[in-house]
Amino acid sequence: MKISRRSLLLGGAAVGVVSFVPSAIGQVPAAFDTLPASAPTRNLTLTAREIDARLLGADGPLTRRVCAYDGELFKMFRFQRGTRLIVDFENALPDPTTVHWHGIRLPYLSDGVPPLTQDVVEPGGHFRYNVPLPDAGFYFIHPHCDETGQVGRGLAALLVVDDPAEAKAGYDAECFVVVKDWRLAPDGKWLDMTTDDGAANAGTFGTIRATNGKTTPPRVEAPAFGDVRVRALVADATRVIDLGCDSDDAFLIAVDGQALPPVSLNALPNGVWRMGSAMRADVQIRMPAPGEEVKIYDYRSDEPYLLTTLVAVDTGKRKTPVKPRPLPAPQVPLPDLKKAQKLEFLLQVSAGPTAVSPPLPADDPLSKALANSLCVGSTTHWAISRDSWSTREDLRLPPPLARMDHGASYIVSMTNVTKHVHPMHLHGHIFRVLSHSKKPKMPQYLADTVIVEPNETVEIAFKAVSGNWVFHCHILEHMDTGLMGWFKVA
Ligand code: C2O
Ligand code: CU
Repeated sequence: MKISRRSLLLGGAAVGVVSFVPSAIGQVPAAFDTLPASAPTRNLTLTAREIDARLLGADGPLTRRVCAYDGELFKMFRFQRGTRLIVDFENALPDPTTVHWHGIRLPYLSDGVPPLTQDVVEPGGHFRYNVPLPDAGFYFIHPHCDETGQVGRGLAALLVVDDPAEAKAGYDAECFVVVKDWRLAPDGKWLDMTTDDGAANAGTFGTIRATNGKTTPPRVEAPAFGDVRVRALVADATRVIDLGCDSDDAFLIAVDGQALPPVSLNALPNGVWRMGSAMRADVQIRMPAPGEEVKIYDYRSDEPYLLTTLVAVDTGKRKTPVKPRPLPAPQVPLPDLKKAQKLEFLLQVSAGPTAVSPPLPADDPLSKALANSLCVGSTTHWAISRDSWSTREDLRLPPPLARMDHGASYIVSMTNVTKHVHPMHLHGHIFRVLSHSKKPKMPQYLADTVIVEPNETVEIAFKAVSGNWVFHCHILEHMDTGLMGWFKVA
C-alpha cells in the first residue's frame, strides 16, 4: 500500500487501495455514508466523449468537439430514491476529467474534486464512483476539471431522483428546461470559453442562447387545465436568469430539487425566481384552456427571453380552481440552530499578494495534483475572506476555510462585497437558507447553491458531514480565478 504525502495531508479516509480501476467504493466508513449498506444497488456505466453536433440548428454548420456523457447532450438519468449507483466511469475525452454529482449527499471520495477527493481521470482512464441517492430531487452531473471548457462545450447530464410518494401531488405533465448558451462563431467553431475581462466581471457569456441545447425555444404540449411540473436547470457556466412565466397560476414548489411549501411566483421579488449556474427550480404551472399557451421566460435579459412555450391541448379535463399540492417534505438532516457555531466569510475581489496561503514548492506532489486538476486559472480575481484558490502560475492549496466536526451544526454567513452576483455552492450538503438580507420576506428553504447579491449577506446552516468539501462560486470563471475554498470536516 502506497501512502502519498498528499493523502496524508488531506487526511483521506483510506488511501492506496490496490485495484485496477481507481475507485471510491468501500473506502468510506459506514457512518459517513448516506444510505444503509443494504440499499438496492444499480450498476451504471458512464462515458465522457466528444461528438459532432449541429448546435446552431439542423441546417447550420457542424460543431466538432462537443462534449457529452454517453454521446448524448444533456442525457437524463432517472432512479428511485434510496438506490445506490455504482458507476463505472470511462474518460474517452482527449483531456483529463472527473465526475461531480452536484447536490447529491454522498461519501466525499465520490465527489469528483481533484485534488481534494481524487486524482483526475486521465484520457482512457476509469474511475468507479459510489453514488447513493438519499434524497428525491433534480440534480446535475458535470465535470470538476477544466469545467469552463468542458461544461462550456456541453458536458452535463441530468439526474432525477423520484420518490413514489410524489405521485400524490398528481401532476399531469412534466417539462424540462435546461438553460445553456453556446459560445460559437457563426461558422460553428468554438470561441474561447474564458476571457480575462469576463473572469474579472460577470463571466464570459455564450454568443447563442439555447434551451435544451436548441436555439429555437421548445414548444411543449400539456393537458388544458392540467398542472405541469416544470423542472428548470441553469447548466450555463455564466448566465444568471430570472425564471418566470406569463401566467398567474404558477408556484415555486422545489428549489435545487428540495420541496418547499408552494410559493406563488407573484409573491416573489419581481414575480421571478433568480437562478445562477447549477441552480434548479421546480415550478407548478396550471395550463389554460385548449389552444392557449403559457410562456416561460428569463426576465433578466433586456428583453424577456423566451425559454419554452407550453401549449394547452384538449384532453377533456375540466377546469377546477388551482390548488398547488405540496411535494413530500425533504428528509435531509437538519442543523440544530441553537447549538450551531457561526462562521462569517467575505466574498471579495482578490487580495492579490496578501493572500494568506504560501505557494507550494514545485516538487511537492500536491503541486502536480493541483496543476493536473485544471480547476485553476492563470490569474486571481476573487477571494473568500482574503484567500484564493490556486492559480496555474502560483500553485497553492489554501488552508481550509474552516475545520468542522462531523455531525455538528454550522451557520455560514456570506457577505458579498463585490459588484457581481455569486451563486455559491457547497459540496456534499443540502443546506437550509436562513436569510437573504435583500429578500427579507423569503421563507426559509433548502438548497445546495444560493445566490448572494452585491452588498448582500446570506446565511445558510447545515449539519456537517465528514470529508473535504469545496465551497465555491458556480460562475465557473470566478471559481477558476479564486472564488473557491474548502471545509475540512473530520
Ligand atoms: Cu456543480 Cu463544485 O460544482
Ligand atoms: Cu461568482
